[in-house]
Amino acid sequence: MKKRVLGIVLLLVCMLLAACGKSASGGDGDKKQLVMGTSADYSPFEYIDTATSEDIIGFDVDIAKALGEKLGYEIVVKDMDFSGLITSLQSGKVDFVMAGMEPTPERSKNVDFTDSYFRSDILMVVAKDGDVQSFEDIKGKTVGVQIGSIQADKAKELQKEVDFQVETRDRVPDLVEELKSGRFDGVLMEEAVSKGYLKNNDSLKVISVPNNETIGASIAFQKDSEFTEKFNKELAVMKENGELDELVSKWFGGVE
Ligand code: ARG
Repeated sequence: MKKRVLGIVLLLVCMLLAACGKSASGGDGDKKQLVMGTSADYSPFEYIDTATSEDIIGFDVDIAKALGEKLGYEIVVKDMDFSGLITSLQSGKVDFVMAGMEPTPERSKNVDFTDSYFRSDILMVVAKDGDVQSFEDIKGKTVGVQIGSIQADKAKELQKEVDFQVETRDRVPDLVEELKSGRFDGVLMEEAVSKGYLKNNDSLKVISVPNNETIGASIAFQKDSEFTEKFNKELAVMKENGELDELVSKWFGGVE
C-alpha cells in the first residue's frame, strides 16, 4: 500500500517536472522565443481569419517566422493596438515590431529599423457613388485614420491644403465600417490594404491623394539592439533568393 502511494507521488512529481521543463524552454524543444508585437487589424499584413482559426496570420507573420527559422528563434505573435507598439517595444514587452510599420524619423528617435521589405502608396477609400469623387471634394467632410499611423500624419498635412475634419480610431476595420455607414466620407489607407476591402465591398472605391508616397514597411527593434543587423542580413538574403517575392505573391498576388 505504502509503495503504491509512493509510486503515485513519484509519478506526479515527474509529470510536474516535465510540465515545468516544457514551459521554461518555450514549449518547442530548446528553441529560444522572440515575441513579435503587431496590430492584427491589417490584412494581408497581419490579421485573424476568424472563419478558420484564432491565429494571427499574414505577410508579416510569414516573414518573421522565416527570419526566426534562419536565426534559430521561435516567433510568438502578440496582438495590440497599433499606437501602443513602439512603447511596448521600448519597455521590452515585445522583442520586435512588425506591423506594416514605416521607419518615420519620429519613430526612429525611439527604436531602430531594418531596411524596408515592402512599399505601397497612400490613397483614400470612399463610397463609390458618394459625394467624394476626387480629393478636392473632401472639403468640409470627415476623414477617418488609424491612431498613430502615418495616415494620421498625412491627414494633418493634407488639412493644410483642403479644409476637412479628421477622426481617429484604433483599428482599421472599424474605419471601413464607419465609412460604409456614412459617418466617414473617406478613409486614408495604404493601397495594398485597400485592395482587400475593395474586393469585398462593391460599394467602395479609391481616389488618389497628393504626395502619396511612402518609405515602406520595416522591422523595428529596441535602440542599439544586436538583432537589427542580424535580421537585416537575413532579410537581404530573402530579397536575393526570391523568398520574399514568393511571400509577396502569396499575400498580395490574389488581390491585384
Ligand atoms: N504603414 C502605416 C504606418 O507605418 C500604417 C501601418 C498600420 N499597421 C497595422 N498593423 N495596423 O503608420
